[in-house]
Amino acid sequence: MSRTDRVSNDSCVLVTGGCGFIGSHTVVELLEKGYEVLVIDDLSNSSKAVLERVGQIVGPDAMQRLSFYRANVNDRETLDGIFTHHRIDTVIHFAGFKAVGESVSKPIEYFSNNIGCTLTLVDVMRTYGCKNIIFSSSATVYGDPDELPLTEESPKKPATNPYGWTKWMIEEMLRSLVVADPTWNVVLLRYFNPIGAHPSGLIGEDPKGIPNNLVPYVAQVAVGRRDAVHVYGDDYDTPDGTGVRDYIHVVDLARGHVAALEWMAHRCGCEVFNLGTGRGTSVLDVIKAYSAACGTDLPYVVEPRRPGDVTANWADCTKAKELLGWEAQYDIEDMCRDSWRWQSNNPYGYER
Ligand code: UFG
Repeated sequence: MSRTDRVSNDSCVLVTGGCGFIGSHTVVELLEKGYEVLVIDDLSNSSKAVLERVGQIVGPDAMQRLSFYRANVNDRETLDGIFTHHRIDTVIHFAGFKAVGESVSKPIEYFSNNIGCTLTLVDVMRTYGCKNIIFSSSATVYGDPDELPLTEESPKKPATNPYGWTKWMIEEMLRSLVVADPTWNVVLLRYFNPIGAHPSGLIGEDPKGIPNNLVPYVAQVAVGRRDAVHVYGDDYDTPDGTGVRDYIHVVDLARGHVAALEWMAHRCGCEVFNLGTGRGTSVLDVIKAYSAACGTDLPYVVEPRRPGDVTANWADCTKAKELLGWEAQYDIEDMCRDSWRWQSNNPYGYER
């Protein structure tokens, strides 16, 4: 089967966590490319309304190729049922708990859910002879970098929280699968900081409670749900003293998954890719770009540094460009514009 043949209705992708922020944007890109998509999500941190919105974006014909299973990935019986009824080519594994701070107070839940689900998943995949998996890893595995930009060869550093360890350890678990059985095909995608929303304004990030991450917080200030942005530290060794990150538009990130999927056909082994833009943006630059997008100067207050934060990180994405033919298209202005469109159309997310 050639690469073009794969992009047809008989290429079936199982997306775990497909109702989440990155998952739902990836589901849109897959459906638009003609894949058959199976979503498994327990809706513990997402909403089924996401799939209706996905339907508005891709249209009723493409939605015929989507099936949804409400279950936790640790539910072996459901996974068995899914693999019995479908010939799945590849799994894209997003499902997992992701709040850094919460992971510190709930380590058992984080290790058990994130690692337990992945073990169940790969065990079932092995049983049914499906050995292609793309895993959502994170730039968190690089820790506090010695050198920038970060390449895939940059060393992994010990994690500073249980969430980070789960990403770190799942990478190693999946690597071990390939060592034991070289017919496995594993792609580890290390995301930098995904933000933004689908340009339609129909799907986006919908954090429960007080947002932990910068842009969802800024978005809630912009829409009037919070008073001011808290800037965690302005005494870092960066041009304006605030932390610097490589923010990437979630649609670019989603397309990175499709590029990886097309690239991994008919090859084996384990490969790692950074997915970022290669550009660093400070906290104050984000607030400025968001202020321009929403047309109001957003208020902020400077607070002490947040424990565990690194000064700066950004990616070298040459490898993804050369091997996957993928490169981020959107800049920080685009990311803020699309985030604002989503937030202003849906001030309380999917629920209201
Ligand atoms: N920040 C603020 N105010 C806030 C939130 C964040 O000033 O309210 C600052 C942080 O100090 C940091 C920057 O904004 O300098 C980005 O912080 P985020 O929380 O948005 O993102 P992080 O880089 O801390 O975390 C992200 C992902 C994690 C991942 C981590 C490391 O959310 O999943 O990158 O790769 F582990």
